[in-house]
Amino acid sequence: MADRPYTVLSCAMSIDGYIAGAAMEPLPLSNAADFDRVDAVRASCDAILVGAATIRGDQPRLLLRSDARRTERLARGLPSSPIKVTVTGGGRLDAWAMFFATGDTEKVVYCASAGVNEASERLGSVATVVDGGQPVSMHWVSEDLYRRGVQRLLVEGGQSVHTQFLTGDLADELHLVVAPFFIGDSAAPRLVSDGRFPWNPDRRATLAEVRQLGDVVLLRYAMSPRFGAEPLEEV
Ligand SMILES: NC(=O)c1ccc[n+]([C@@H]2O[C@H](COP(=O)([O-])OP(=O)(O)OC[C@H]3O[C@@H](n4cnc5c(N)ncnc54)[C@H](OP(=O)(O)O)[C@@H]3O)[C@@H](O)[C@H]2O)c1
Repeated sequence: MADRPYTVLSCAMSIDGYIAGAAMEPLPLSNAADFDRVDAVRASCDAILVGAATIRGDQPRLLLRSDARRTERLARGLPSSPIKVTVTGGGRLDAWAMFFATGDTEKVVYCASAGVNEASERLGSVATVVDGGQPVSMHWVSEDLYRRGVQRLLVEGGQSVHTQFLTGDLADELHLVVAPFFIGDSAAPRLVSDGRFPWNPDRRATLAEVRQLGDVVLLRYAMSPRFGAEPLEEV
């Protein structure tokens, strides 16, 4: 029996494989049609997880944009947007960050033991701070989210978080969007950093779908046998 959520990793990259600029600044790696697709994927999930650096740098709101999707979730007895989840070592996050300051959905912060005091002081009034041990393992986070009722988890980066979910063999599905331009600076972050990944020339991921959305393309990979085994919306 599954002891962790069905987990979808989502990321947009340039043709040359970078997920942001060299100064870690976010770039328009998506377009309107793809934003709407991501909105549908978010609507199908119970929680969205991003790393603390993405909260600090990109200021994502992680709220559903579509009124219809929010209304449909409320009608199903769900919060209008998925729970927001993050992971931090030091707990140095600000309560005024868009992640915390927007939406009435629950926010959960998994913090390494050494940073829990700092995180509780800063975020205790706006989020549930969980002592995730030292270091925080994404396997444990996944299991804890499952215990909290999260059955579908969307992981939206950045590089450090994607690397840990992938090297930990915790991904069931990967959505990779390729934008039609180059960044051309090796100081910029890629989807993952170095690591030992379960998918290699001898164990290839399954390309489940290729979809053109205006000038970007979505590559949807099945990363585990759970893909296709569960009733999934067309997202
Ligand atoms: N193109 C896209 O789709 C996309 C999406 C999202 C982000 N991005 C880009 O990705 C870049 C950020 O990537 P990143 O790798 O620097 O950062 P990240 O993955 O967003 O966050 C890394 C931070 O998360 C915390 N963390 C991660 N794993 C942890 C663990 N096991 N235990 C405790 N804390 C942990 C640490 O926070 P503390 O520092 O607080 O200890 C760490 O510094 C940005 O440039 C952003 O624009 C791109």
